Amino acid sequence: MDSQPDLWKKAEQKDRDFIRKASEEFTIFGPYVEIIDGWFRDPWVETWIYGDQKGFLMLGPFFPSFFCSILDVMVIYVSPFWRRRGVGKTMLEFARVRAERKGYRFLRAHVGCENQAAFKLFKKAGFKVKRKIEGYYPSGLSAFEFFKEVNSK
Ligand SMILES: CC(C)(COP(=O)(O)OP(=O)(O)OC[C@H]1O[C@@H](n2cnc3c(N)ncnc32)[C@H](O)[C@@H]1OP(=O)(O)O)[C@@H](O)C(=O)NCCC(=O)NCCS
Repeated sequence: MDSQPDLWKKAEQKDRDFIRKASEEFTIFGPYVEIIDGWFRDPWVETWIYGDQKGFLMLGPFFPSFFCSILDVMVIYVSPFWRRRGVGKTMLEFARVRAERKGYRFLRAHVGCENQAAFKLFKKAGFKVKRKIEGYYPSGLSAFEFFKEVNSK
C-alpha cells in the first residue's frame, strides 16, 4: 500500500474531539490529552486524519530542513476497531513520503518500552532502535528512540 492521498486529510477543528478522546489512551505516559491538544494547535505540527477518523498521525516540528534534518512521528493512533489491518503501516509510509517531500533525512519516533504493538509496528516498517531513554515521559516511563532513513523503504 502506498500513501493513498485520497484517504488523508489535514485535521480540522471538527476532528478535535476525536483526537482528544483518542489521546486518553496515552495518559499512562503523562497528561497527553492536553499535550496532544497543544500539538494540534501548534503551527509547526501537521495533524493528519486517515480514512474518516480511522486514525490520526501527528508529524513535526516542520522547521526548515536546513535547520533540522529530523522529523518526528509525534503521535500515531489507529482506532481500536481498525487495528491489525495494516493501517499503522500505511500511516508510517505516509510519514516517510511526507518527510521525503519536505527534504528531511530521518524520521524519528519515541515508543514506550512496554508498548509491544508499537514496537513491532516500527520495527516492521524499517525503523531501528537507537537507544533507550530512561524516564523519557512525564509519568516517568521509559522510551525507545527509533530512527529511519527517509530514503529507505
Ligand atoms: C500501535 C498501533 C498504531 C498499530 O496500528 P495497526 O494499524 O494495528 O498496525 P498494523 O496493522 O499496520 O500492524 C503492522 C505490524 O505491527 C505489528 N503489530 C501491530 N499491532 C500489534 C499487536 N497488537 N501485537 C503484536 N504486533 C502488532 C505486527 O507486526 C503487524 O504486522 P502483522 O499484522 O502483519 O503481524 C495501534 O495499535 C495503536 O493505535 N495503538 C494505540 C496508540 C499507540 O500505542 N500508538 C503508538 C505510540 S508510539
